[in-house]
Amino acid sequence: MKNAVYFAATMAVFASNAAALVPAAREFAAGEGVLSITSKVSFTEIDWYDFDRVGQCLAEVEKTVVRDKSLPPEGYRLHVGADSIAIASADDAGEFYAYQTLRQLATLTSSNSIAIPRCIVRDWPAFRWRGLLIDEARHFLGKETVLKILDEMAMHKLNVLHWHLVDDQGWRVEIKRHPELVEYGSVRPCSVRFGTHASWKPPAHAMEYELNKDRYGPFFHTQDDVREIVAYAKARHITVMPEIELPGHVRALLAAHPEFICEGATHGREPAVAWSVQKEVLCVGNDDAVRFLEDVLDEVCELFPDAPFIHIGGDECPRTNWKKCRKCQARIASEGLVDESGLQAWITARMVRHIEKKGRRAAGWDEILAGDVPKSAVGMVWRSSPEGGAGTEFVSAAEAVGRGHDMVMAPNEYCYLNYMQGIEHDPYPYFSVWPSSSVITLEKAYSFDPCAGIPAERRDRILGGQACVWGESTFNIFDFEWKAWPRGCAIAEALWLGDERPGFADFLERMEKHRIRLLDAHINSAPL
Ligand code: ACM
Ligand code: ZN
Repeated sequence: MKNAVYFAATMAVFASNAAALVPAAREFAAGEGVLSITSKVSFTEIDWYDFDRVGQCLAEVEKTVVRDKSLPPEGYRLHVGADSIAIASADDAGEFYAYQTLRQLATLTSSNSIAIPRCIVRDWPAFRWRGLLIDEARHFLGKETVLKILDEMAMHKLNVLHWHLVDDQGWRVEIKRHPELVEYGSVRPCSVRFGTHASWKPPAHAMEYELNKDRYGPFFHTQDDVREIVAYAKARHITVMPEIELPGHVRALLAAHPEFICEGATHGREPAVAWSVQKEVLCVGNDDAVRFLEDVLDEVCELFPDAPFIHIGGDECPRTNWKKCRKCQARIASEGLVDESGLQAWITARMVRHIEKKGRRAAGWDEILAGDVPKSAVGMVWRSSPEGGAGTEFVSAAEAVGRGHDMVMAPNEYCYLNYMQGIEHDPYPYFSVWPSSSVITLEKAYSFDPCAGIPAERRDRILGGQACVWGESTFNIFDFEWKAWPRGCAIAEALWLGDERPGFADFLERMEKHRIRLLDAHINSAPL
């Protein structure tokens, strides 16, 4: 029997803190005793925390499930009685979250039975956007890993997967109308060696930026993979938001279409290898390039038929080439734009409207807010001050909601989980560019307040927030999980409970137990 040691621990956990829920439930009243459920199917290999086993047992207990429209969206009431379970929920998502809570409450007591503490729970989220960004452009994780990440999101009641699929270093989604995108964009000539990056220089173990000599790729998701991932997410009440970066961060696209670079500049047939902000951006004065983007976005909309939001990037777009390009300058003149910043606003507005015509809403990094952009566009904050990025114009979240934009908060100093976490003996590489000395401790992540600085009367424009695990130094599932958890648990609780969070000390106590749960579920959580 695997993990026998945890069985003893389990009982103690049970007595001292039956409800080590992460995120915590809004209201939890413990009853006397437990509900024991035995499944007909017995497994031979068991782990203390086993999704399949718990699910198998839960399927066999008597349950009543009803809809109660008086509950807030995604909310639920759960009653665990002596021999049955009752769930009332506002909607399907609420019912799903009641099950996620049950899964965390359940303890395996034998190879085919679980115990759940008797309790009454009332619970609903503070924010409707509870996101996680993964960046497969920099390092490809692959379908199986993405599916595992979706399970981890569901466990923490996160509901938006922000899928960063393309960037300077890779194009990772098959576009049937333009197969050249993955042909040229999904393979780079070499890559950064695991654990090495110039930006990561903590005093104890500075490492140099070091390239291996191996081709990286071709790595990309086929459209069948995408459909499978989207369906898997949907079954877990997770919306997938694809990101197609424009007009900067496009070197993988330029590898397929070097002719879309500005006059006077050139581009080879390979994506970028280095991680810094790249000056090779799209020629926005080129009509063919603009139409190409629209064509790609059309197919992306078809591939993600249920995605309410399509992310169009917009961050870190240097204007060096635009300043010297005849076509870009001609566009500025013909559209009556003030300067190159107007050119970025022009391409943003055009793509936002194009996406609107498809019945979707565009989202983009905070840089998109600098110009006159349709109010349907959702701004995603990653900078908290004018510095950073390519040093382009800065619009604060408070100003953006004042202008009528909905916003999602992902400020780097709280939400970028690729930044160091300040734990001892950490073998994993990090990527902290801005600000270069950033450390996001667990406590800092827990203190994330999506509504910080937003006037009370405008807070309904803050849809929520998200953790971002950028991929420059995220090579595989092991270091993804190490970076994502437990700090992602803290952010999940901030988004689920908002101002009703019970506090860091309480979180830490639950998190100690939850981390054992994660490890038993084969999730490589970092220590607290
Ligand atoms: C970003 O980190 N450039 C969105
Ligand atoms: Zn140009």
